[in-house]
Amino acid sequence: MMQFMRDVTIEQFGAEEWERLKAIRLRALQEAPDAFGSSYERESAFTAETWAERLSGSWWRVAVIDGGDAGLVCVRVEEGRAHLLSMWVAPEARGRGVASRLVDAAVAHAREVGVDEVELWCVDHNTAARALYASKGFTPSGKKMGLPSNPDIPESHYVLSLLFRRARRDDVPAIVAMLADDPLGAAREGDPSDERYLAAFDRIDADPYDELIVAERDGKVIGTMHLTYLAGLSRLGAERCQIEAVRVAASSRGEGLGRRMIQWGIDRARARGCAMVQLTSDKSRADAHRFYDSLGFTASHEGYKLALS
Ligand SMILES: CC(C)(COP(=O)(O)OP(=O)(O)OC[C@H]1O[C@@H](n2cnc3c(N)ncnc32)[C@H](O)[C@@H]1OP(=O)(O)O)[C@@H](O)C(=O)NCCC(=O)NCCS
Repeated sequence: MMQFMRDVTIEQFGAEEWERLKAIRLRALQEAPDAFGSSYERESAFTAETWAERLSGSWWRVAVIDGGDAGLVCVRVEEGRAHLLSMWVAPEARGRGVASRLVDAAVAHAREVGVDEVELWCVDHNTAARALYASKGFTPSGKKMGLPSNPDIPESHYVLSLLFRRARRDDVPAIVAMLADDPLGAAREGDPSDERYLAAFDRIDADPYDELIVAERDGKVIGTMHLTYLAGLSRLGAERCQIEAVRVAASSRGEGLGRRMIQWGIDRARARGCAMVQLTSDKSRADAHRFYDSLGFTASHEGYKLALS
């Protein structure tokens, strides 16, 4: 039994080891037919050439336990996105963190090759895999389809952003610096280390209906926005997502980061079931208005503000 499991290593296949890949992949397809978009019938008919191509065409890792192959994962990078595929751990090795290590290795690979997003599909009834991916920060994108190998089984699409994430307390000074580096912000912001910013962050962080988001690249915070999920009775009690305090660091402007950040926020709101995304933008920010227009927002309302301090 697995309490005797001594040694788990995550290994690369040798360049010629397509038969090793074939053996563990076919075992996975036989053992968990409902977990994969492909099938044992389909892949057992693959030629040696196809297996060799599969091995060389994607990034594969195998978990080796006490000398035997017991886990598999694949990452395929296409059009700047990393797809996590073929995740499987042998039944006798489950519940010991093997999949956790395989996902970590896959995400580390995605970071190394410089993509900003890892995506995957997982069938809705696969509680173990869904919990695994949630524990690694994957969130549903809202896209759904039938499993290609059995369309009666619904599966959902999950995404892990390597660029956007919830802010941490130690990001606060960098966020405040971005808020201040702005014609309007310069007049109203104070010392980034002021305790009041941290107190406000703690309140936001503790509230499940509030998310302060940052964009981070190479360890540097380069963008931010604040998402608030507002309750309301209208539209059958639907939530709406409000976007506030959008900033891209001056050195990272003009590269499409702002567009991607807002798009990511919209996808996040949609996946949560929000009926609408709304924002206000100061009347003086003509460039920002063009930016939001180009993202599909409509300037349909007049925003009113009454300053109290
Ligand atoms: C899903 C699967 C890969 C998990 O492998 P595993 O090695 O047992 O997973 P780990 O031990 O690394 O668990 C990591 C995390 O996943 C979650 N998890 C794993 N198994 C779980 C289960 N049975 N129930 C609930 N959560 C589970 C937990 O969050 C766990 O973290 P924790 O141990 O700190 O609570 C494995 O069950 C499997 O191969 N299933 C069949 C194939 C499959 O479903 N592949 C996924 C295709 S999308």
